[in-house]
Amino acid sequence: MNFVVPVKIPLEKLHWHVAEKAQVEVWVFRDDTVHPFVSGNKWRKLFRHLHNLENLKNTGWSSAGGMWSNHLLAMAEISRCFQIPTRFFIRGMDTPSRFVNFFKSAGIDCVPVSRRDFTEFHQPEYIPENILGQWIGEGGGGRDGVEQVVESLSSASIPEGFDLVLLGCGTGTTLAGFSEAWGDVVSVEGVSALKIPHDDWEKMLKKITASRPKVHVDEALPAFGKLSAQNMEWIKGFFLETQLLLDPVYTWKVFYFLEKQIKAGYLPNKKILVIHTGGLPGWLGRENLWNKNFGMSLPNEINTI
Ligand SMILES: Cc1ncc(COP(=O)(O)O)c(C=O)c1O
Repeated sequence: MNFVVPVKIPLEKLHWHVAEKAQVEVWVFRDDTVHPFVSGNKWRKLFRHLHNLENLKNTGWSSAGGMWSNHLLAMAEISRCFQIPTRFFIRGMDTPSRFVNFFKSAGIDCVPVSRRDFTEFHQPEYIPENILGQWIGEGGGGRDGVEQVVESLSSASIPEGFDLVLLGCGTGTTLAGFSEAWGDVVSVEGVSALKIPHDDWEKMLKKITASRPKVHVDEALPAFGKLSAQNMEWIKGFFLETQLLLDPVYTWKVFYFLEKQIKAGYLPNKKILVIHTGGLPGWLGRENLWNKNFGMSLPNEINTI
C-alpha cells in the first residue's frame, strides 16, 4: 500500500430522511476510505512524514497515546509497512488491547506510562528523554499537525457549492487545518467530542491557528468516548438507513448534532458537507457494545488486527 499518492477522496450524497424531509442536502467527504488504519485525519496529520519515509526509515519515530489511540494505530501500520524503527509511550497499558497487541506484533517498542505521569504528555511542548528518532506529539496535534492537514488539502480542489463544512474535533488540529485551507470559500465548523466550555476551545484553537473556526459543544452529548444505550441505538439506526458506519467517538457526534440542527429548522435549503474523519477501528475497543447492539460482526477491514 502506498500512502503517498494523492488520493481522490469520494464525495457522496447521503440519503437520510432527516435531511430530505427538511430539504437539506447532506454530503459526506469520505476521508475514512483512505485506508482502514491510516484513515481520515490520521493520514492528513502525518502527511509530511509520509513524504519522508526514506528519512524516517533511518531515524525512526516516537509518539504517545492511549491503548486505543487511532493515531498510534496509524503510525504503527506505517511503521509495519515501511520497517520504521518505532517507540510508543502508552498510557496505562494495564488492560488487554488489540491495538497494543498489534503494535507489539509490528515490532514497536511499547513503553508503559502510568496514568498520572501521562498528564505531562498532554503538554504540546513536552518531549520525553528516551525517544527514538523524530518526536510526534500526542494525537499528531499542534501547529505542525495543522500545517500538514493544510498541505494534504492543498492539491485537493475545494468541493463547490457548499454552505457549511462540519467535522468532529478533539484537539482542533484537523478543524484548524480545514479551516485554513477552505475557510475563505466556505464556513468550516467543528463539533466537539469533548464536553468542555467554549472558552477552552477558544484558548486551544488560538494556540494553533489564526483562523478562529467555530466549535459547537452539544451539552446533551456524552463525555469523550462514552456511549449510552440510546447513543448506540442512534448510531445503529443511522447505519441501517444510510449504510454509513460512523466511528464511536467523533463523527457520530457530528451527525447527531446535525440532525438536531436540521430538525430545529436552522439549516433550510442548505448544502452541507460532513468530513468523515475515520476512526472506525475504535469499535475494536468497544467490541462488547458492538456485538450486543449491532448483532453482526465488525467490518472485515478493521477486524484483521
Ligand atoms: C477519527 C478521528 N476523528 C477526529 C479526530 C479529532 O481530530 P483533532 O484532534 O485533530 O481535532 C480524531 C483524533 O485525532 C480522530 O481519531
